[in-house]
Amino acid sequence: MVSMDEVKKGLRDIEENYTRYLISHFREWKKWAEQSDTIYEGREVKEEEVPPVFLTEMRIMKVIKEMETLGEFDWNNQTLRLLFSELSSGPFYTYFGGIIAHITIELAKLYKASHLVEVGAGDGRLTEILLARMKERNVQTPLLITDSKPVVEVAGTKVREEYPEMEIESMIWDIMKPPSTEMLTRISHPSIIYERYSLTYTNYQAIANLAQVGDVLVMGGWFNNTRAIYGYDKVFAKIGLKTLLLNEVEDQLKKYYPCIYPLDSGVKKAINFPYTTLLLAWR
Ligand SMILES: C[S@@+](CC[C@H](N)C(=O)[O-])C[C@H]1O[C@@H](n2cnc3c(N)ncnc32)[C@H](O)[C@@H]1O
Repeated sequence: MVSMDEVKKGLRDIEENYTRYLISHFREWKKWAEQSDTIYEGREVKEEEVPPVFLTEMRIMKVIKEMETLGEFDWNNQTLRLLFSELSSGPFYTYFGGIIAHITIELAKLYKASHLVEVGAGDGRLTEILLARMKERNVQTPLLITDSKPVVEVAGTKVREEYPEMEIESMIWDIMKPPSTEMLTRISHPSIIYERYSLTYTNYQAIANLAQVGDVLVMGGWFNNTRAIYGYDKVFAKIGLKTLLLNEVEDQLKKYYPCIYPLDSGVKKAINFPYTTLLLAWR
């Protein structure tokens, strides 16, 4: 097993960079959290009053609330699709993807990993970021990308065409269910599971399933570390996002992983940010 000190040392620069970025980017989180309560209660908040980094989130929240008033939720709504696409191509999402990729590659080196596994890969946006970084750094660890939806097979075909030199497989895996025997036989160990914003659609049970596959977990799903629930939590819950409490996630992780490390504790200290945004666990 790689020690806590080795991991901390290997990731020190990236932790400092990430912490600085988050402190600056989310410094006005409390103002937005309170504004989101106001929106949730159906009262007006002017766009110009919302800290710019939260503007797209605010617009999404308003569309979801409007749909609720109309009585039906429509994922195909053009405005909603455009807003989600704006969010997922925005500066934070992209930067965050780069950080997850960087950490995964550093840990793959430290661990001499034999397999990387992405869960909740969706249409492969994070996969693309990881593969570009792997190519830059000449890392060729085999990769398996998974998701509960068939879209992952499309993403798999695309990245196999883009990176013919890499060993990339794709398959469907609903992480609320244990991995199939087929999947278990495909994975070589030590293995690293990484993810961004997919655990947040599941619950604590998923950890036991992940632990059957990954010797190391890089979790970029956000975990609530204060138990405070704001308006945006309540509205995003309507589209399937779960509030997962950090201490309960840690309790589950402890059953399978002796080492657990939140990479952004400096953000909590500096601005009391109520989410742990990057959590690592390994054995
Ligand atoms: C917000 S998208 C994020 C996609 C991708 N991780 C990224 O960062 O670009 C959430 C993804 O989680 C997947 N997901 C939700 N529940 C899941 C489950 N139980 N098992 C596996 N994937 C799941 C969805 O299908 C979707 O692709």
